[in-house]
Amino acid sequence: MPEMPVLSGLPVLGCLPELRRDRLGLLLRAYREGGDMVRVPIPGRRLYIGTSPSIATAALRQEASRFMKFFALAKLSRPVLGDGLITAEGAHHRRQRKLIAPGLTRREVGRYAEVMARHADELQRRCTAGTTVDVHAEMTRLTLAIASETMFGTSAEAHARAAGDAIHAATSYIARGVGSLVNLPLSWPLPRHLRMRRAVATLDRIVYDIIRDRRSAGRNGAPGSDILGMLLAAQDEEDGTGMTDDQVRDEVMTLFVAGHETTANALTWSLYLLDHHPDVAERLAEEATAVLGGRPPTLEDLPALPYALQVFKEAMRVFPPAYMVGREATEDAVVDGWEIPKGATLLLSIYGLHRRPDLFEDPERFDPDRFAPEREQALPRGAYVPFADGPRVCIGNHFALMEGQIVLAHLAQHVRLRTRTQPVVRPQPRVTLRPATLVALTAERRAG
Ligand code: HEM
Repeated sequence: MPEMPVLSGLPVLGCLPELRRDRLGLLLRAYREGGDMVRVPIPGRRLYIGTSPSIATAALRQEASRFMKFFALAKLSRPVLGDGLITAEGAHHRRQRKLIAPGLTRREVGRYAEVMARHADELQRRCTAGTTVDVHAEMTRLTLAIASETMFGTSAEAHARAAGDAIHAATSYIARGVGSLVNLPLSWPLPRHLRMRRAVATLDRIVYDIIRDRRSAGRNGAPGSDILGMLLAAQDEEDGTGMTDDQVRDEVMTLFVAGHETTANALTWSLYLLDHHPDVAERLAEEATAVLGGRPPTLEDLPALPYALQVFKEAMRVFPPAYMVGREATEDAVVDGWEIPKGATLLLSIYGLHRRPDLFEDPERFDPDRFAPEREQALPRGAYVPFADGPRVCIGNHFALMEGQIVLAHLAQHVRLRTRTQPVVRPQPRVTLRPATLVALTAERRAG
């Protein structure tokens, strides 16, 4: 076996300060100085960073059974997400995944195109000429509204505000915890713990109310109407059992939390990059206008809007919302020829992979043509993995791609979101990769 390079670091703390202070810098340095796989010295933990397509594929697919989710994230998320797909492991994860996956295939999510287009249309109407838009806040609002309606139909309308605030509070708690070294138990009465517990109680009340309503109205079996209907109706083929209310609650929370912030970040970065690349923005607007002539896109329009999808994919290459994926080895593993001992943590550097110059020429450059179909097909497996891969690949990937394509195409034909100065906004790695500072763009209306 090749000898594993060890990344340079401080005498006692190793790379820990850098991991906390400049995580993206560390991910890039790991590949630049160490190559495909490096050991990262930090106190009390064996930590590795992998940055190659074959390592990503091996860890996430072939060797997936020797790894589990990164412990810290799972532990912090559990009060909100319970035993939903993100935190579940082993047989329970497999069962839940089998129950839920059929409802989120590319074909199935097509039914939500209309909801996405309608919310995108409301947003473009609000962007009157001269309005300054806080892009991240708007995209978060948009993705929450879409998540809420696709999840609950109209049952949640009355609770939209309270649920939105509570999800925001819960997500902030998890984000803060992941960035900290020590996390005190949630039962300790610190103000942020109380806020978190209140948020979970609010969400529980809303979600259980809606579930009870549906079950008592006998509308269990209304799959097709919304994602909750699909969860309530899902049945295990082998034993015919479905999900309990608690399981449905956990999966609802999980889909909400996993789905809205990631997609909001991907859209925010897309609009930011479009501001910095007016030529790309023009081409996107031309495509959208030629196909749609001003009306919101439908499911049938999507094949005719390839450039909108390419823009979204390329934005997720440059700024992948899930910039790394963490795994812990539950037994000794060999990943693409590298030994990873039991108990060690392996970080798959999606950010680093997407910026490898041998995979993506001139990787800092935003160029949606990289995702023209023939060029995308030529990429090696594991080179572009914004949704990870293998048995735990993002279950919402078709949903997210469709949402991105619809929102970008529809906004592009009506508004140009720009700044005069095109300030550089840096990415901030929390649970997801978000903008470190405000992305404020001013709306100009397009003619027609
Ligand atoms: C641009 C948007 C999105 C990105 C970049 C993204 C990325 C990811 C990634 C990388 C994972 C794997 C994490 C790991 O294995 O450690 C994941 C898992 C997951 N995602 Fe997404 N996601 C997005 C949108 C969504 C949406 C819209 C939904 C829900 C409708 C969703 C639901 C989930 C769930 C439930 C999991 C856990 C799957 C499992 O472990 O079986 N995601 N996502």
